[in-house]
Amino acid sequence: MNLLKAFLLSAFLHSTANTASIPFDHKPNDQQLANPNHGPVPGQDPLYSSYRGKAPPFPAYITDPIKPTADGPPGIDDLVWQNLLSAEWVIFSFYQKAVEMFNATAFVKAGYPNTTYDRIQEIRDNEAGHLRIFQNEITATSVKPGACKYSFPFDGPASFLALATVIEISSMTFLTGLVQMAKLPAAHGVMVAIASTETRHETWTLLEIWKTSPFAGPSDTVFPYANQILDLTNAFIVPGSCPPENPIYPSPRQNLPPFSPAGSTKSIEPGNNIVLNFTDPTNQPKFHRGVQYYATFFHGPSNISVPLDTTGWPHEDIKVRIPPQFEARGIIVAVVTDKMGASTLTTVKAGPLLLLEQPAGLGLMAL
Ligand SMILES: *[C@@H]1O[C@H](CO)[C@@H](O)[C@H](O)[C@H]1NC(C)=O
Ligand SMILES: *[C@@H]1O[C@H](CO)[C@@H](O)[C@H](O)[C@H]1NC(C)=O
Ligand SMILES: *[C@@H]1O[C@H](CO)[C@@H](O)[C@H](O)[C@H]1NC(C)=O
Ligand SMILES: *[C@@H]1O[C@H](CO)[C@@H](O)[C@H](O)[C@H]1NC(C)=O
Repeated sequence: MNLLKAFLLSAFLHSTANTASIPFDHKPNDQQLANPNHGPVPGQDPLYSSYRGKAPPFPAYITDPIKPTADGPPGIDDLVWQNLLSAEWVIFSFYQKAVEMFNATAFVKAGYPNTTYDRIQEIRDNEAGHLRIFQNEITATSVKPGACKYSFPFDGPASFLALATVIEISSMTFLTGLVQMAKLPAAHGVMVAIASTETRHETWTLLEIWKTSPFAGPSDTVFPYANQILDLTNAFIVPGSCPPENPIYPSPRQNLPPFSPAGSTKSIEPGNNIVLNFTDPTNQPKFHRGVQYYATFFHGPSNISVPLDTTGWPHEDIKVRIPPQFEARGIIVAVVTDKMGASTLTTVKAGPLLLLEQPAGLGLMAL
């Protein structure tokens, strides 16, 4: 705990906030968090909207996992909430890093509205509220995952805001899958409310930062295999840095080969060809002779499968055209499959690849 105190102290000293309004526990204790009534309650406390400052707010400054406080089988949806809480630690930490790294001037100097830093702090606060909501959704018989160490590929306001735009719409998309994995109707309700919060964040960036249409057509993209998207966030987790009590993230984990459009790609809008680059040399796909593979693209409420010629790979490139029927809005999720329509989890053999369509041009920068 000494390390944590030292960190908090230094964060305080560097803080530009009016520190008087920060409700900190004087002796942070991870097990107190097992009680859902401990600390500020999301929806009932302004902390999760109005706190301003560089020090992480409650409950994020308590990064240890919260141990089970009762014996018995896990709650029906505990696994889904554990996955979501581990994902939320990534997302919270992403915003927290930006709050610590930048100030109001940094965004103004980079040409963004003078309200940007304030909004980023408010989004950070919302994400802290998500941490608390997800901790409370996990029942007393299961561990509530703690924070790992993270590393994010941004070095200035522009690359941060580009990544934020992808992360918000991806969060909305993986929630359309997690909601299909959860069993309790009340869990479905909470997840829809969280997805809409991520979408409000996205809408703000589209309007104020990118000065574009805030709308993404009649439906955002539904993707059923949420853990495949969550697995991509492992790229931000420092290997081996998670608390040993945390469950495998995500659970279950398929560890599919990732792929990206090759570096020569000019555009990822519908109708363009992309070459599939399987980017992890230690995790390459296996294409069996005689099996027809597809790229299945999800956009809005539906999907389109395009046959792939894998016979010459790896000596010959695998090329595919992004379905020209899709509207160039929102996000397209692409996976490599061995069945048209990818109607079961195990038909997915590689990916997913997230193609941000809005604002146009940002998607390539964010890959
Ligand atoms: C923002 O940070 C820069 C250095 O990174 C510093 O020069 C400037 O005074 C800060 N502005 C505010 C308003 O704190
Ligand atoms: C922020 O920008 C708006 C318009 O772009 C301007 O009206 C306002 O005075 C600015 N506020 C500050 C504190 O600079
Ligand atoms: C494929 O990805 C790897 C790893 O990111 C990269 O080093 C390589 O340049 C990429 N190849 C192409 C053709 O884009
Ligand atoms: C993809 O669309 C087809 C119908 O076109 C549907 O049968 C299939 O279930 C969809 N796949 C997923 C994973 O929803």
